[in-house]
Amino acid sequence: MTRVFSGIQPTGHLTLGNYLGAMRRWAEVDQHRADSLFCVVDLHALTMEHDPARVRRLSRQTATLLLAAGLDPEVCTVFLQSHVDEHTRLSYLLECVATDGEMRRMIQYKEKAAKERDRGGSVRLSLLTYPVLMAADILAYGTDEVPVGEDQAQHVELTRDLAVRFNQRYGQAFVVPRATIPRVAARVMNLQDPTRKMGKSDDSGAGVVYLLDEPDAVRKKVLRAVTDSGRDVVYDRAERPGLANLLDVLAACTGGNPESLADVYDSYGSLKKDTAEAVVEVLRPVQARHRELCADPAYVEGVLRDGAEKARALARPTVDRAYRAIGLLPPVAEPSLSAAR
Ligand code: TYM
Repeated sequence: MTRVFSGIQPTGHLTLGNYLGAMRRWAEVDQHRADSLFCVVDLHALTMEHDPARVRRLSRQTATLLLAAGLDPEVCTVFLQSHVDEHTRLSYLLECVATDGEMRRMIQYKEKAAKERDRGGSVRLSLLTYPVLMAADILAYGTDEVPVGEDQAQHVELTRDLAVRFNQRYGQAFVVPRATIPRVAARVMNLQDPTRKMGKSDDSGAGVVYLLDEPDAVRKKVLRAVTDSGRDVVYDRAERPGLANLLDVLAACTGGNPESLADVYDSYGSLKKDTAEAVVEVLRPVQARHRELCADPAYVEGVLRDGAEKARALARPTVDRAYRAIGLLPPVAEPSLSAAR
């Protein structure tokens, strides 16, 4: 059976981009057709300046929202990264096959490091090595497919390179995974600046729809979305990014196609209105389920405990195999070694 793994960082409140680009597919498609694991990657949240209490709060909230979005612990595995030591164990081995140059070429590293320097802060070493930990997340589970938004494609490409390199040097240890990117809404853009990705750590929330935004807040944000100076409704991502973004969001929410939806509208106003309502409708059941789950934190904790146990059992043999392959002795001397002494 195909193995699917994907992850999400608890670095901010989850956004419509996270939902349309990743989570919704995990819930509607991946968990039902593959042996799937979905991970709240809390260690990744420590790569930038962080507040420990906020990371704890957001880790719980992220896990709760994954379940609210429809991940079913009866058919998939949901867990926290820091509960499974295999991720960091494997990450170190992969640091021994990755190169410094490779890490410095990562777009997200360049962007986030520049932002941190602009703020007058210092760049944590873990921000540079972050993609290696992400590769470990994926490779530890013999993953075939990694369903992600477009912004993570480069990291999955690096993961493939590391897997191939390790296998060539030290023998077949890893499955070489591939990214699966959604047909529409692979990159939902900020509503106030459609040249930037809608991100959960954006400083201003005006262009970001959060999954837990009240319906009126959603409407306001979508109706105020920055559009382009033209008047006709056409789908052109390069020339009319604001409009294209709204068409993408509407298409993703209604199951349509952005190009054909452009033909249906003759004004920005009606497009915005329908997009706002479509987003409100998509978020409604997620929010309702979230409210129910918040009333039962013990259930969510139980899901995470069981999930970590299942994940550990899956990752352990793969990571142990990689330890042997790269030249590390097993902790307990094998009889043949003791005999040779
Ligand atoms: P993160 O937490 O930034 O995002 C989680 C998922 O949401 C997608 N996404 C988007 N898709 C479309 N439009 C957007 N505006 C948008 N914003 C976010 C992301 O592509 C992602 O699929 N490094 C990863 C987390 C990670 C991971 C992994 C993912 C760690 N280990 C292993 C897959 C496999 C990240 O920062 O995602």
